[in-house]
Amino acid sequence: MKKPVIAVVSSSLRAQSRSRAMSRGAAEILREAGAETSFINLAELNVLPYPRSNDDAAVRDACARFNAADGWVIATPVYNFGASGGLLDFLHIALDSDLGKWKPFVLLSSLGGVRSSLSLDHLARTLVYEVSAVQVGPALLCFNDTEVNPVTGALSAELAGRMRTQLGVLVKYGGVAQN
Ligand SMILES: Cc1cc2nc3c(=O)[nH]c(=O)nc-3n(C[C@H](O)[C@H](O)[C@H](O)COP(=O)(O)O)c2cc1C
Repeated sequence: MKKPVIAVVSSSLRAQSRSRAMSRGAAEILREAGAETSFINLAELNVLPYPRSNDDAAVRDACARFNAADGWVIATPVYNFGASGGLLDFLHIALDSDLGKWKPFVLLSSLGGVRSSLSLDHLARTLVYEVSAVQVGPALLCFNDTEVNPVTGALSAELAGRMRTQLGVLVKYGGVAQN
């Protein structure tokens, strides 16, 4: 069996973003666990509300890499009790059940308080109901600069340990989801 490919999507546009640092750490952990990774950094793209990016070659390429993957790690900041608007714009373009169902996914998020973690259920529901994706565990969350240093990108040992456990399961599910 070939290595499962996991697309890792980072959606914060901030220069020093905790969720992007988490997504970079996740990519490293996934590779250690035996997956190939395809990193999609929305901060390097100009994703406009649908359908204004339909003819953007870089956005189309990112959508193709997203859909070609066997599983997904999707990282988002929480803004106003919701996922990043840019991420939702990307998903409006990318999600396509004709290009694959049942993909396992893990959400990563950085936010200010635990109450807002409930808002990530909206993002999970979008993936489950739109493309029959399968959520692997609850979202992995970061609440402060001790857990994730946004300047150095360093993750706390405790968070890295939890990510290693959950992303290891994602890699196994990604192997099963392969065509
Ligand atoms: C406009 C705005 C709205 C925010 N709304 C929330 C919120 O509703 N709940 C919350 O827990 N944190 C909220 N935050 C805090 C961010 O989630 C937090 O700064 C997070 O680290 C951003 O992710 P990033 O570091 O990856 O860019 C908000 C921040 C901004 C700038």
